[in-house]
Amino acid sequence: MDVFDDVSQLNRIERDCWQHLQSAVTDRDNGWRLPVLATIVQNSVQQRTVVLRGVDELSQVLYFHTDIRSPKVGQLSNNRSISLAFYDHSLSVQLRVQGVANVHTDDVIADAIWSAGEPENLRMYLAPHPPGTISELSTSNLPPEFIGRIPERRDLEAGRSNFCVISVQVLSMDWLLLNRGGHVRAIFGYDQDDETHRKWLCP
Ligand SMILES: Cc1cc2nc3c(=O)[nH]c(=O)nc-3n(C[C@H](O)[C@H](O)[C@H](O)COP(=O)(O)O)c2cc1C
Repeated sequence: MDVFDDVSQLNRIERDCWQHLQSAVTDRDNGWRLPVLATIVQNSVQQRTVVLRGVDELSQVLYFHTDIRSPKVGQLSNNRSISLAFYDHSLSVQLRVQGVANVHTDDVIADAIWSAGEPENLRMYLAPHPPGTISELSTSNLPPEFIGRIPERRDLEAGRSNFCVISVQVLSMDWLLLNRGGHVRAIFGYDQDDETHRKWLCP
C-alpha cells in the first residue's frame, strides 16, 4: 500500500479515532461533535444531527441525549440498528459507525447523566409538546416562563421524565482520510474477539 502500510499504523489510526471522539464530547470546535444519526423506519431511513455526549472506549459505547417522546426513540424501539456519520473538515476525516442502540429512560445511566447535566442543556426537556407536534404558530415549544431564561435546577425536575440517553454499542467504524496523495481507508470491527478486526479498505 502506498501511504500507510503496516499493522502499527492501523492500531494508531484506531487509537486516534477513539481519542478524537473523546475530545469531541468537550471540544465544541471538534468536527466530530455533531454526527448525523440514521435510524430505520420500516422500509425507509431517517437522519438527524445529534450532539456526541459521551464516549467509553473500553466498552466501545457512544452516548447521546434525546427527548423520549421524539420519533427517533419510537424508531429505535422497532429496530435498534443505527448508523452514525462524522466528518471533521479540519482533518478531512470521515468516520462511519455501525451500531446497536439502547434507550435508557430511568436507569442509573440516565439518572447519572441527568444529574450531571447543565440546566442550559436540559431546559428543552421541559417542552410541553412532543418534538414534531404540528403547531398553528411558530413556537420554541418551551414553557413561557423559560423562554430566554435558563431554569434553576429545581425547575428542571418536571423535564426528567422526558429525558433519555441513547447508548450505541459500536459494531464497526469505517475511517476515511481524504488526502491529496491518495485517499486512505480502514475498517475497525468489534463484533469478534480476534485480531483480524482491523483492515485496510480501498477508498
Ligand atoms: C447542531 C444540532 C444538534 C442537535 N443535537 C441534538 C441532540 O443531541 N439530541 C436530539 O435529540 N436532537 C438534536 N438535534 C435536533 C435533531 O437534529 C432533530 O431535529 C430532533 O431530535 C428531532 O428528531 P426526530 O424527529 O428524528 O426524533 C440537533 C440539531 C442540530 C441542528
